Amino acid sequence: MMDILTAGPPPRLRDAALIDEIQALKRERNAVLLAHYYQTPDIQELADVVGDSLALAQAADRTGADTILFAGVHFMAETAKILNPARTVLVPDLHAGCSLADSAPAEAFADLLQRHPDHLVVSYINCSAAVKAMSDIICTSSNAVKVVNSLPADRPILFAPDKHLGAYVQRVTGRKLLLWDGVCEVHVDISIDKLRLMLGRYPDAKLIAHPECPEHILAEADHVGSTSSLLDFVQRDAGRCYIVATEVGILHRMRAAVPHKELIPAPVHADNTCACSECPYMKLNTLEKVRNALRDGCPEVVLPEHVREGAERALRCMLALG
Ligand code: 13P
Ligand code: SF4
Repeated sequence: MMDILTAGPPPRLRDAALIDEIQALKRERNAVLLAHYYQTPDIQELADVVGDSLALAQAADRTGADTILFAGVHFMAETAKILNPARTVLVPDLHAGCSLADSAPAEAFADLLQRHPDHLVVSYINCSAAVKAMSDIICTSSNAVKVVNSLPADRPILFAPDKHLGAYVQRVTGRKLLLWDGVCEVHVDISIDKLRLMLGRYPDAKLIAHPECPEHILAEADHVGSTSSLLDFVQRDAGRCYIVATEVGILHRMRAAVPHKELIPAPVHADNTCACSECPYMKLNTLEKVRNALRDGCPEVVLPEHVREGAERALRCMLALG
């Protein structure tokens, strides 16, 4: 039999108390909560800013808060720290990594650069501060095409670490890119076979996809873009039904923005419980961990100054493009 005394309050009341506690801690610390679209709905609802990687980097750059609590993955919080050396940057869970950032260890990256000294280096923001510090300019999925188009036409370009985003940029810009062999484990798990079956079942649906998806998915898409671009597309497009090929967290904002439209998460290979794509790193963050980080002032993102400085130079080149 359940012990009523130890069962605690029902979830709704517990969440309300937790949310009050988080709001009070935020005020105490003069903290801002930044959250990516892939965070769970409860975290998105509590955040001061919800956005894609570019919007969140820009928000971190503009903030006047003493503390930035970054509910996303580690490279995103690290970016906030690179831009804000004097502010405290906290994360809910230090283990919230990213398969793309992990695919490019600094030593192997330095080794490749040494073998291609004539190349300009464009790194996707999903990489470590050490890799950013070795890059000429950073990009996100929102501005990768713009960044590559901004580079002198006579210079060869090395693009890291996402080979699918790189291949997409290559197709759009017509520039030949030397690609690092990294992938997002979430976007490569979307199943083209199940997707085609789904498109058959929903003949009026439009497929919208993040450029981290492999080419065979992007080739069938009606629109390709960053999470912000996908959100924008469902709002301005006249269609009524969309299959969304990216992490399922974005559907929270989409459903709020277009409640009258049908939004279906793209199916993945693995038969997980919801059969939709979830980033296991993004989903490590919880409201309890948000509270704990604000209460305890940790885990904190800390960087060696020489790495931070180099990474800031490359990031500011991107931010200067607007
Ligand atoms: P956005 O640039 O759309 O925020 O994408 C970040 C990301 O990690 C996608 O997997
Ligand atoms: Fe990294 Fe992919 Fe997760 Fe984005 S969805 S944080 S690219 S593992």
